[in-house]
Amino acid sequence: MATSQTEVVGRDQWATKVGFLLAAMGSAIGLGNIWRFPYVVYENGGGAFLIPYFVAILTAALPILILEYALGHLHRSSAPHAFRQVRRGWEWLGWWQVAVAFFIATYYVVILGWCLAFVWYSVGQQWGEDTGAFFIGDFLQTSEGGAPEGFWQVGGPVLAVLVPVLIAWAMIYTILRGGVRRGIERASRVLMPLLVVLLLVLVIRGVTLEGAGEGLNVLFTPDFGALADPGVWIAAYGQVFFSMSIAFSIMIAYASYLPRRTDLTNSAFVVGLANSSFEFLAAIGVFSVLGFLAVASGSAVTDVAGSGGVGLAFIAFPQIINTLPGLNSLIGIVFFLTLFFAGLSSMVSILEPGIAAVREKFHLSRTAAVNILCGAAFVVSLVYTTRGGLFYLDTADRFLNNFGLVVSGLLEVVLVAWVGRELAALRRHVNEISYIRVGAWWTVSLSVITPVLLGFMTVYNVWTEVNEPYAGYPASGLLVVGWGVVALTLVIALLLSQIRKDREMRLEG
Ligand code: ALA
Repeated sequence: MATSQTEVVGRDQWATKVGFLLAAMGSAIGLGNIWRFPYVVYENGGGAFLIPYFVAILTAALPILILEYALGHLHRSSAPHAFRQVRRGWEWLGWWQVAVAFFIATYYVVILGWCLAFVWYSVGQQWGEDTGAFFIGDFLQTSEGGAPEGFWQVGGPVLAVLVPVLIAWAMIYTILRGGVRRGIERASRVLMPLLVVLLLVLVIRGVTLEGAGEGLNVLFTPDFGALADPGVWIAAYGQVFFSMSIAFSIMIAYASYLPRRTDLTNSAFVVGLANSSFEFLAAIGVFSVLGFLAVASGSAVTDVAGSGGVGLAFIAFPQIINTLPGLNSLIGIVFFLTLFFAGLSSMVSILEPGIAAVREKFHLSRTAAVNILCGAAFVVSLVYTTRGGLFYLDTADRFLNNFGLVVSGLLEVVLVAWVGRELAALRRHVNEISYIRVGAWWTVSLSVITPVLLGFMTVYNVWTEVNEPYAGYPASGLLVVGWGVVALTLVIALLLSQIRKDREMRLEG
């Protein structure tokens, strides 16, 4: 891509197209694929979930992914500036996405810390026989009494959690300091192939275990009745947003680092396909081993998989590893390393749009922006290393996903399709430079289907949240850590968008 490097003097740019693709895949493929997807499929009708899932990919995920590539590429800037270009007065929406991503990063890194700790605990299965008590009690030292009584018994940071989180932070900081090419692109070139190998090892081990078929039956046996449940559709849209890194402002920033002449739609399809393939492989691997555990322990697969997202990786998996016929420590290390590496490249991508946005707005060097963003995120992340950390993480995750990502995604399509009426111009831009042309499918999805469905989801989510307090947590907890954090992201966004320092600039590399 040598010819393109001089086009935007000084602005960070990917060294190669493959580098960009690997970084975008690295962003998409993360904890959401290996840890969240299998459980979401299972909880939402097994095989029948695949119908809403593919509908969500075709009507929302892919169209929005192409939209975000087009916005970042055409306006050559991160989300706040790109949205301002669409319509003055909408810069706040870009900052909102950046702020939501920032707060997601503050707990995402803590899960990475858990993964690192469990790589170590895998050696000789230090979690013992009762893996649930080990994770919740010995490792996290979760406040006694659980929720709701223990919610506010914060305590100080738990050392066993803090140390691996610090190690994760050191790696993230190093990659981000390295910049787009020497940091993110280089790390993705190592991490992505490594991930594929590690996942294949796990899947092959999983499907060759006795009982694997039982688990796969549960995963893929359709329950068509589930299609009538709006919750299943909402889960599908929620999953594809999180998993494809949509409405995080990531893909806008990543596309802004592309050269002028580059294929956008092709990249979106490649990233989407890689992300879904990875999810399916992970689900096949996870359910095979769940089937194995069910057969080995004489219980139903539905019982062994019942412990939810967090539990599935950190409670059910250690239990499975205990039961394996051999190579236990090795399989444990491979599993938690896979989770860690998948999450590391996503974590880096979640912070990058914030770095790009503050650099653009305040004309900062990369080092200064990385120091500010990582420093602030590090301080907030300490909250999740305390004894109440699990509750705060669970609450913040729920609210930031349902009301941060989904609502800002909805506003993003409304802004582009209806307020700024920029869909036609973006479609022209995409089609001028891409091999695969987007047609009416794209316009109809973004201007009608996606806004209607996301609007419905938002109303349904608010209604559910108000009527059933999430996970039995105290109202004060949901108000502060749930609604409060979402409100805080909005306030930060509004404040940042009011500061008038913005001017067209070329970033220093
Ligand atoms: N897309 C990232 C994940 O799946 C955030 O974890």
